[in-house]
Amino acid sequence: MTTPTGIDKIAFHIPAQYLNLAELARRDGTDPDKYHTGIGQTRFAVAAHDEDVVTLAASAAALILDDADKAAIDTVLLATESGIDQAKAAAIYVHQLLGLKPNCRAVELKQACYSATAGLQLACAHVARYPEKKVLLIASDIARYDLQTPGEATQGAAAVAMLISAQPRIAVLEGDSGCHTADVMDFWRPNHRSTPLVDGKLSTRTYIEAASAACADYLARGGLPFAAFAQYCYHLPFNKMASKTHQRLCQQHGIAFDPAKLEPGLAYSRDIGNSYTASLYLSLCSALDARDDLGGKAIAMMSYGSGCVAEYFALRIQPGYRNHLHSASHRAQLDNRRALTLAEYQHLWQRPDSSGHPDITFPADDNAPRYRLLAIEKHERRYGYA
Ligand code: HMG
Repeated sequence: MTTPTGIDKIAFHIPAQYLNLAELARRDGTDPDKYHTGIGQTRFAVAAHDEDVVTLAASAAALILDDADKAAIDTVLLATESGIDQAKAAAIYVHQLLGLKPNCRAVELKQACYSATAGLQLACAHVARYPEKKVLLIASDIARYDLQTPGEATQGAAAVAMLISAQPRIAVLEGDSGCHTADVMDFWRPNHRSTPLVDGKLSTRTYIEAASAACADYLARGGLPFAAFAQYCYHLPFNKMASKTHQRLCQQHGIAFDPAKLEPGLAYSRDIGNSYTASLYLSLCSALDARDDLGGKAIAMMSYGSGCVAEYFALRIQPGYRNHLHSASHRAQLDNRRALTLAEYQHLWQRPDSSGHPDITFPADDNAPRYRLLAIEKHERRYGYA
């Protein structure tokens, strides 16, 4: 029998400020219902200037790790598409900030919003081979689009940290996955750009087609029947994308659409926005925090990254999983955020550019204790906890 492997701990960290989409609607003379009903979103998280994928990731990981975990972790995988360096892995900064042991590997993974799922597969294979070891897997992203473009309303930021182990206490990765890869220019970000190029309509069509193909491949490889799941979690660029895709898949597989098996996974995203690699795992946190009846049941996970790769797979939720969640921290982070004015949002949107200024220091925008980017000196990033 193969060793069960999967998610032993999971928690997210989000910025302490957000923008109400009603503010964007007011600025642009758009009906706010386009956002609230049309795309299913209310707010999005906005990163401070002293936050990046490293500080978000380290702050999320600090919530879940104890000394025994730190001693057992021999691999750190950080999935992101808003990285801070073209060569050095953000995972190395996180490894240092968390005080992990040096005899450890640290790598950054990229494939748009999909790569955390590749990380989950690699991590589970590793701990199946070495069941006494643990992998720290973090999905961390700041989703940005140009101002006054259709994508602007679908920004957001978050990191989800997961401890991957043998005999996990939250969720076991069960069976084979269904996969789909196709070369599509729906969303991409060339090296010279800080915001993506996106064909919004093509991206939504491609998402649905890729989800459908990955799900069909999952079934062809002997996966659980489409109707067998207690909860369906999707990559969430915006909530309506998941509702539309799920309705399409229900139709294709001849089952009735049941919102009670989808909506518990949408609550956090509605107020946080797209968090690229983290978004599917934020949906998992949302469902696990909201539902106390998932022990022993299977959750369907649909991971998508533009470009594009999709993977459809099953997680078997473990009895007693609720004893190991960080629901109170998640709630407190959401409740203690500050609403930004439009002017404050637009100021934060302009991320400091260090290319022409070798030295920048970052004053703290908030006083919540967390990891911070303190300065960039001679192109070197300095981090700390304050
Ligand atoms: P848009 O084109 O401005 O919006 O932006 P729209 O005109 O299509 O309206 C959106 C919905 O609101 C429509 O509903 C309207 O009818 C409705 P639908 O027809 O689709 O069901 N609507 C209203 N509803 C109620 N009251 C009203 C009202 N007005 C309109 N008054 C778009 C939409 C998705 C194009 C844009 O947000 C965008 O470009 N976003 C970025 C790309 C994106 O998120 N794509 C999703 C799939 S790709 C993906 O998930 C990968 C990604 O995460 C990146 C990665 O992998 O790295 C993006």
